[in-house]
Amino acid sequence: MRLVHNIIPMASSSTASMIFLSFALSVFSTFERASCAAAFTNATCIDREREALLKFKQGLIDNSSLLSSWVGDDCCSWKGVRCSERKGHILKLDLRSPCVVSTYAIAESLDPVLGHGNCTLIGHIHPSLIELQHLNYLDLSWNDFSYTKIPEFLGSLSNLVYLNLSNAWLAGDIPLHLGNLSHRQYLDLNLNNYDVGLLWVESLEWLSGLPTLKHLDLSGISARNAQGWLPSMSMLSSLQFLGLAYCQLPKVDPAALQVNFSTSLEFLDLSDNNLGSVIPNWLLNLSSITHLDLSYSFEGAISFPTEIINNNKQLAFLDLGHNSMRGELPKNLSNLCHRVALRLRFNDLTGDISAALGNPFSCLQNTLRYLDLMENKISRLGDEIGYFKNLEYIDLWGNSIEGPIP
Ligand SMILES: *[C@@H]1O[C@H](CO)[C@@H](O)[C@H](O)[C@H]1NC(C)=O
Ligand SMILES: *[C@@H]1O[C@H](CO)[C@@H](O)[C@H](O)[C@H]1NC(C)=O
Ligand SMILES: *[C@@H]1O[C@H](CO)[C@@H](O)[C@H](O)[C@H]1NC(C)=O
Ligand SMILES: *[C@@H]1O[C@H](CO)[C@@H](O)[C@H](O)[C@H]1NC(C)=O
Ligand SMILES: *[C@@H]1O[C@H](CO)[C@@H](O)[C@H](O)[C@H]1NC(C)=O
Ligand SMILES: *[C@@H]1O[C@H](CO)[C@@H](O)[C@H](O)[C@H]1NC(C)=O
Ligand SMILES: *[C@@H]1O[C@H](CO)[C@@H](O)[C@H](O)[C@H]1NC(C)=O
Ligand SMILES: *[C@@H]1O[C@H](CO)[C@@H](O)[C@H](O)[C@H]1NC(C)=O
Repeated sequence: MRLVHNIIPMASSSTASMIFLSFALSVFSTFERASCAAAFTNATCIDREREALLKFKQGLIDNSSLLSSWVGDDCCSWKGVRCSERKGHILKLDLRSPCVVSTYAIAESLDPVLGHGNCTLIGHIHPSLIELQHLNYLDLSWNDFSYTKIPEFLGSLSNLVYLNLSNAWLAGDIPLHLGNLSHRQYLDLNLNNYDVGLLWVESLEWLSGLPTLKHLDLSGISARNAQGWLPSMSMLSSLQFLGLAYCQLPKVDPAALQVNFSTSLEFLDLSDNNLGSVIPNWLLNLSSITHLDLSYSFEGAISFPTEIINNNKQLAFLDLGHNSMRGELPKNLSNLCHRVALRLRFNDLTGDISAALGNPFSCLQNTLRYLDLMENKISRLGDEIGYFKNLEYIDLWGNSIEGPIP
């Protein structure tokens, strides 16, 4: 096609040009036939895009030979690269470190870790990647970009739907250019609690430029000055996953308005932020939420937010630990009917566990699998605890339980 584009504009109305044009057309039709035949094989990659990958590779130390297949002409067959079948444009670059493993703990701590060996790319993200204008998926997570900044040009890859730079040793402020990518659905910049504060943002207003976002993970990124973080986020009406742990988020108005993701959000981690002494209303009514972590977020004698349990029946993980909650364990825990893990450690909750878990014939009897009430002021256990036959883990250390052990 490039050949044709180059030739046709040169053709003027002169006869010589007419001959030239018919020559060009016959070249064109030969080309078309060739590409019809080629439709049965895979397109090979585009020279400019291959050059871009090679420059990117030159910016990296690859001691574990992760990019050893990056030789020869057909960059579409290189490891981690996927091209469009028809035109051969690079659509996907998946260079997540192969050593990342997910750990499974019963407490739902699914944080991945670097498992074994040293298999990361070390260096920087070369600006040559801007050539990959058709790229819709970029995963560079768990490589070591040596405290360089997140490049601004990533905001110009206008087809990017998925960007994963989690735990990639990037540092500095997050370029606002990332807000230019209006198609984006997945943005993962999670620092997994390592080096919290290595990355920071002054404001999160740019998020409102990403209306299709489904998955946003900014955990570990300091956002201590991002006053308007909630109004910016509340526009994201497709959001399903929101990771904001350890962000030093400023307090928000507890009376705050509704959020547009109140029916779509399934996962929320707001742990380790100092959000004041009142649980804001918008947190109490997230109708699709299954995983809610509000540990280390509130201070000052809050009472148990029973509404969370009454409104959100699909909760499977609830962490309200380390919030100096006072008062009795709520009686409504038995509303929860999914495979439930409850972490309520380091609060001042009082009362009777059996009464809280409620009717032993409720569905919770089959679904409760994890209960952590360590360091509270619980005074009674009760025989009924024995009915919870799928309970895998229970921690009652540091309470004031009296009476016989059932
Ligand atoms: C095209 O590429 C795919 C995946 O790389 C491969 O499985 C398939 O065999 C290739 N087809 C041809 C005709 O080369
Ligand atoms: C990479 O390998 C080279 C040569 O084997 C070695 O000198 C260098 O220290 C290694 N770098 C890292 C970061 O492991
Ligand atoms: C990492 O690679 C270096 C150089 O190849 C090697 O000396 C070292 O033992 C490796 N470390 C691990 C943990 O595999
Ligand atoms: C990003 O990559 C990490 C592993 O490197 C993975 O655990 C995480 O789920 C990925 N994020 C998304 C949105 O897929
Ligand atoms: C992208 O965003 C930045 C900062 O918000 C802005 O300066 C720039 O002009 C934008 N670029 C495009 C191509 O929209
Ligand atoms: C979000 O909600 C506000 C107020 O309810 C509304 O004006 C706005 O259009 C909504 N935005 C989106 C993207 O749904
Ligand atoms: C919770 O949200 C739903 C739908 O968003 C709404 O219909 C309901 O009235 C809300 N309930 C409370 C208690 O705010
Ligand atoms: C327990 O839940 C029921 C409905 O599921 C509700 O009517 C009642 O008010 C709740 N009790 C408390 C103490 O929240």
